[in-house]
Amino acid sequence: MLKGDFPVERFASLRTPFYFYDLPLLRRTLDVVEEQLRANPDFRVHYAVKANYNPRILAEIAARGFGADCVSGGEVEAALAAGFPPEGIVFAGVGKSDAEIRLALEAGISRFNVESAAELEVIDALAGEMGTVAPVSLRINPDIGAHTHAGITTGLAENKFGINYEQLDEVMDLALRLPHVRYCGLHFHIGSQILDMMDFSALCNRINSLVERLQRGGRPVGDINVGGGLGINYQHPNHLPIADFGAYFDTFRRHLRLPRGTVVHFEPGRSIVAPCGSLICRVLYVKQGTHKQFAIIDGSMTELVRPAMYRAYHRVENLTSDEPEEVYDVVGPVCESSDVFVKEFAMDKCRRGDLVAIRSAGAYGEAMASRYNCHPLPEAFFFEG
Ligand code: LLP
Repeated sequence: MLKGDFPVERFASLRTPFYFYDLPLLRRTLDVVEEQLRANPDFRVHYAVKANYNPRILAEIAARGFGADCVSGGEVEAALAAGFPPEGIVFAGVGKSDAEIRLALEAGISRFNVESAAELEVIDALAGEMGTVAPVSLRINPDIGAHTHAGITTGLAENKFGINYEQLDEVMDLALRLPHVRYCGLHFHIGSQILDMMDFSALCNRINSLVERLQRGGRPVGDINVGGGLGINYQHPNHLPIADFGAYFDTFRRHLRLPRGTVVHFEPGRSIVAPCGSLICRVLYVKQGTHKQFAIIDGSMTELVRPAMYRAYHRVENLTSDEPEEVYDVVGPVCESSDVFVKEFAMDKCRRGDLVAIRSAGAYGEAMASRYNCHPLPEAFFFEG
């Protein structure tokens, strides 16, 4: 959305900072994903709920018939409440509690993505107590370093996620032996905000050799879940508002060598919801420091933690000024020096009361907001077009 298209006249009565969601953009994005799925009938999408669990956003995605990738009992409940069918829900995470496992078994979800032998045994015991059988996939740590922020790679041997190669045969034999779990397939996830398709083709190569190894050993393969990770363009939210789903799905279609008819699951989060969200904030003060000028806004790391936590870049736009650009450090009111959105950033001259949009904040924005410094949780505004 171009800066002039934000409906600022409707923002006057809203408490800033708030999340603004461009629903027409979300819908166009979902159309693109649906189109890709029509072209690839063995592919299934499970939206990663962790990226944004706002009920209205979840309902939009559930209405398309996609599944949900959850990482806690709370996310399973949120997905069910939004209308995702239990048969479309997959549940990953290194530390599933007994209560969460019971909840997911009760709901009849489609898959537990299991991350250790210890977890497998607990799921088997709890499913046994409940007189049921749990469908499980084994999450493999593929030991691939994706070209992204160190805080959001997950597929390296040093990361806590998944089962390593050496233990795979042993854990799979356990899964095949335990009476209350049913082995269904393999799960992978190498990281997030990945823009280099070579990272995904490297994952495909790992999967291919693993599948060959399992077949040679006479073991089953089942279906393959390749996780999420497709990145978006944070630099130019207006030029490229929809992630390159064509290149993403095509990479897997071209590089995976799987037995005919193998179902491949995907878990995109960021690529679906990031572009449609902005955090709208108000300029409180413009202050001249010794060497620089600060635009102090009412939004902070409390409402959008990504810049403080990962030094992530989000473009900032002054929605209510057309005056010549000046250079600012755009900062929030929280008492931490990391409460900075952008440094030495040129934008249209700011004055007290101006509204600024922090763009591409639909993923891991509202979902990671806290109440630090006793701020209220930000509300959401849904733009229908
Ligand atoms: N599947 C699994 C198993 C995951 O762990 C994740 C994300 C996804 C799917 C979705 O990945 P996506 O398509 O969104 O890249 N808070 C960080 C991102 C953490 C991602 C954690 N796992 C951020 O703000 O950048």
